Amino acid sequence: MTTGLSDLDAYIARLTLAEKASLASGASFDTTTPLPRTGLPSIVLTDGPHGVRMPSAQADHLGIGESVQATCFPPAVTLGSTFDPELLERVGAALGEEARAEGVGVLLGPGINIKRSPLCGRNFEYLSEDPLVSGVLGAALVRGLQSQGVGASLKHFAANNQETDRLRVSVDIDPRPLREIYLRGFQRVVEEASPWTVMCSYNRINGTYASQDPWLLTTVLRDEWGFDGLVVSDWGAVEDRVAGIRAGLDLEMPGGDGRNDARILTAVESGELDERDLDTAVRRTVQLVERVTRGADPESAYDVEAHHALAREAAARGVVLLQNEEDILPLADTDTVAVLGEFARTPRYQGAGSSLINPTRLDSALGEIERIAGAGRVTFAPAFTLDADLVRDEVLASEAVAVAAAAPVVLLFLGLPDRDESEGYDREHLSLPANQLALLDAVRTVNSRVVVVLSHGGVVELPFADDVPAIVEGWLGGQAGGGAIADVLYGKVNPSGRLAETIPMRIEDTPAYLDFPGEFGHVRYGEGLFVGYRWYDARSTAVRFPFGHGLSYTTFAYSEPRVTVDSFGIQVVVAVTNTGARAGREVVQLYVSRPESGVRRPPRELKGFAVVDLEPGESREITLTARRADLAHWDLQVEDWVVEDGPYIVAVGSSSRDLRATALVDVEGDRVHLPLMMSSTVAELLDNPVTAPVVGEALRQMDSAIMADEEGLVKLIGSMPISRWIAFPESPLDRHQIEGLIFEANASGEENP
Ligand code: BGC
Repeated sequence: MTTGLSDLDAYIARLTLAEKASLASGASFDTTTPLPRTGLPSIVLTDGPHGVRMPSAQADHLGIGESVQATCFPPAVTLGSTFDPELLERVGAALGEEARAEGVGVLLGPGINIKRSPLCGRNFEYLSEDPLVSGVLGAALVRGLQSQGVGASLKHFAANNQETDRLRVSVDIDPRPLREIYLRGFQRVVEEASPWTVMCSYNRINGTYASQDPWLLTTVLRDEWGFDGLVVSDWGAVEDRVAGIRAGLDLEMPGGDGRNDARILTAVESGELDERDLDTAVRRTVQLVERVTRGADPESAYDVEAHHALAREAAARGVVLLQNEEDILPLADTDTVAVLGEFARTPRYQGAGSSLINPTRLDSALGEIERIAGAGRVTFAPAFTLDADLVRDEVLASEAVAVAAAAPVVLLFLGLPDRDESEGYDREHLSLPANQLALLDAVRTVNSRVVVVLSHGGVVELPFADDVPAIVEGWLGGQAGGGAIADVLYGKVNPSGRLAETIPMRIEDTPAYLDFPGEFGHVRYGEGLFVGYRWYDARSTAVRFPFGHGLSYTTFAYSEPRVTVDSFGIQVVVAVTNTGARAGREVVQLYVSRPESGVRRPPRELKGFAVVDLEPGESREITLTARRADLAHWDLQVEDWVVEDGPYIVAVGSSSRDLRATALVDVEGDRVHLPLMMSSTVAELLDNPVTAPVVGEALRQMDSAIMADEEGLVKLIGSMPISRWIAFPESPLDRHQIEGLIFEANASGEENP
């Protein structure tokens, strides 16, 4: 590489216009354009996110063919359930090592879009319904990855929460949910972890394509959040390339056909596009190439076995023990078990689409259970076909029921078939296949000791939850997911995974139910801020399992919290004690409420979390911080974040519906200066110390025939803009006098609430 950052401007000045235009798009499906004349190499950008999807030599031009083997770490749904940023940073670093070994410069991930509806076909690739979880864990993945000299691509920016019509749909959304729910996680990752690239999404936001939205790509991302990397398009997201350059879309992918390069050239020549805007995009591309080249190490390799072990650790940490009556779990190594269900033998371990990884190895739960218990203690029956073949299913079910009847305990592996969850289309329902539900009923009639183990990427309805003693949510565990399940079932790992997404009772209860996936090219985010648990809590809706829920084989007690406030936010110290007989991990969660808020808010929001590992009887103090920035709401009047003054309730607990202790704390809010205007209301003028005496006196002079008591009068007239009131013949106020007072009030700098 010949440039060197210091002479970047000089380097760009040496390029011809055609060369610059060529750098605005890639050279192929996954490479940037090289400029051999100047020594600028090409770099590789490839999927991601939970493994390296490096096309092998035989891959087709769409990148859909075979890819080289790589560790298939658990997809984001499972990583999100760990609530463990330290672990995710290690996974990120391992991904970085593998990417570097394969010559990949940018790994396309993580994906941190909010799980708005459980029907989104790609939820398995996203972390959570909550922006704090998505932001904290997304930042950890980026930090880990980039620590290896490989760039991340934070995606899909922004509001890409469904697959239906994803390349065109307009997300019609109000500013508060956009900022507070859908952008907040992105903001955190950008500010905390400085990803080298951000990938803009396919969709439109309030009518404008993300790929050509100057507000999104420049005002918010760069000017407000300080992003200094490169914006790459999602593959095929470009509608108008020239508008994209102007808006801040630096690199179009994939590339190779040259059409948009020619269009850029003509636009600059005709004066439609300012060459300096092109230079800006080129500068960022060259900078990225330079960063990547600096981190590259063609000699590097990675430890396949160690990465498999890390994949197993991460998958086990992501398993959520949803239910465990009468401590049916963990099993003893010496227990005899019936293992039923094809998923035990043929694991479903990742989702379909661009994130599909070609694993280095693949463990099945059946194989790993047999390794722990010994094959002699395990009887397996496939129980159903994955493609729901009616005739075969009948035979398989009766064989399975016979096996179940003879066993002391049944491990029943249920899940969604591959075709139910994929990039590119959404799910149609939240049900497990009918053949599997029928099988469960049949098994229960012969054996009540049934442990259901689930494999799927987005949540499913669990209508049988009251009828079985235990449910283990195994998600999609990546290549070592089978071992992770076995570890949890046999207590080799004490489960600590938590739901990063609520499991609802039924699809009709979900926040976006009436507004998903939209119609006529628009999807209206009518539920506003009330996404996930924010919705169920605001409506007091029963859920199957709440956000943050997950059991352990031990129990934990919480002390009363000690709470202090400083400029960073609210600090909460709480002692957590392991009150059971096994070592275990608690995920301590901090929720904050603002009961007297002047703006609409969910009843509580997650503002902090931490994991703590405790030996039996051990107690440790944990400090959680609700950052001041996270207490703020997006204020439409000042178009900025504002922290409200007054009391906040902090609650610590084990899930959003298992709060163990609360405390009340006063926070000093932000001073907001809203200038008074002639359109300000009578009530607003009564709140200002300069205008209040005159306006108050005028009110008192009003004819008591309108309303005898003054309080009532204020209510009646208070909402009236002052300009309207003074226009009434009976108004005792004079326009000039009011204009003068407003001028004086604004000049005095007194705060208007
Ligand atoms: C997906 C991205 C992916 C890209 C490259 C797109 O279809 O939305 O997530 O990184 O393809 O494969």
